[in-house]
Amino acid sequence: MRLNSLNLLNFRNYSNLRFDPGPGLNLIFGFNAQGKTNLLESIYFLATTRSYRNNRDQDLLCWGSQYFKVNGIVSNHNRQTELEIEYQDSGKKTVKLSGVKQSRLPDYLGCLSVVLFSPEELAIVKGSPKERRRFLDMEISQLSKSYAFLLIQYYKVLAQRNMLLRSCKEKLQNINQLEVWDSQLILNGSQILLKRFEIIRKLAVLARSSHRQIAAGKENLEIKYLCSFQAKPDMAVEEIKNSFRIKLKELRQEEIGRGLTLAGPHRDDLTFYINGSDVKSFGSQGQQRSTALSLKLAELELHYAVTGAYPILLLDDVLSELDSLRRHYLLASVQDKVQTFITTTNFENIDQSIMADAKVFRVDGGKLN
Ligand SMILES: Nc1ncnc2c1ncn2[C@@H]1O[C@H](COP(=O)(O)OP(=O)(O)OP(=O)(O)O)[C@@H](O)[C@H]1O
Ligand SMILES: [Mg+2]
Repeated sequence: MRLNSLNLLNFRNYSNLRFDPGPGLNLIFGFNAQGKTNLLESIYFLATTRSYRNNRDQDLLCWGSQYFKVNGIVSNHNRQTELEIEYQDSGKKTVKLSGVKQSRLPDYLGCLSVVLFSPEELAIVKGSPKERRRFLDMEISQLSKSYAFLLIQYYKVLAQRNMLLRSCKEKLQNINQLEVWDSQLILNGSQILLKRFEIIRKLAVLARSSHRQIAAGKENLEIKYLCSFQAKPDMAVEEIKNSFRIKLKELRQEEIGRGLTLAGPHRDDLTFYINGSDVKSFGSQGQQRSTALSLKLAELELHYAVTGAYPILLLDDVLSELDSLRRHYLLASVQDKVQTFITTTNFENIDQSIMADAKVFRVDGGKLN
């Protein structure tokens, strides 16, 4: 997969930009606060319709402008697609594929797949369970439209069920209606879980293999899925549904008391282990960083295994954070196969052999040279 061109209108500090990246390594270089991260953010936004800095769409609008537009041509398996997102300051967002308006997000996701690695992504290892679910859900949604649809459906049901739980405190007879929402939650939730199990199984194998190389064979990385009810990857779907139902029954009184659904994929988590110890609690900074890096490399390979194409890779401010061994391993792993965008304030961290193949862009106050 490759981004052939990118056009920005009023996006952050880019009032009008045309960017023609190369097929391999693209180095976005410049002083602080010139727009390097903004450029990567625009590519991430074009791919996912979201900012990766957890910002609102409104924040992406160039100060003083009424609308912004991000447009790009993507080629994949010899097919070209034009992606476009326009945002008006009224809050209206229009998403188009080759000129045709898309009203359902899952139809759009995956046309441009991205893997992002930035210092903030360490939150996947060190942050709250929500960060890990976000990582997992975004990753799977880019690979599977049906998963993206399931998630939307699940969260709708969850919101309805939570509303009903809150009402049960005052109106006890509403408890009878819970059964209907339980069934919907269990149906969608079990499908989500099955897909997560399948992807985690593949991702775990790939991440273990990258991590072995990064850590010179001395560390064994494992990924485990922590389910909020009794469920294992080898269980049949009916067993998973039963177990989910039993858990909801057990939690009934507590759920009504708190007005919240306390079990299901929205409460699950992942744990990373190196040589048997939990990386979040016991890993060194370097081990936590290597775990995040292994995961990102595994994501690239997973996309390739599932779709036959590598996604594009966005590396924001990460080279200076890695030691020379890890930096070299990362760049060598993507060289000649993954279109990569790297932001940097200097070239000291990049090997000459890799620089030779790179296309270099200098960013200066929202302009590219
Ligand atoms: N909505 C916006 N409209 C206009 N300008 C903006 C907007 N949001 C941010 N900026 C400007 O963009 C600049 C930051 O750009 P960016 O984060 O891309 O810098 P950077 O080149 O990545 O810098 P660093 O090397 O420090 O990471 C800010 O200093 C700010 O002035
Ligand atoms: Mg930056």
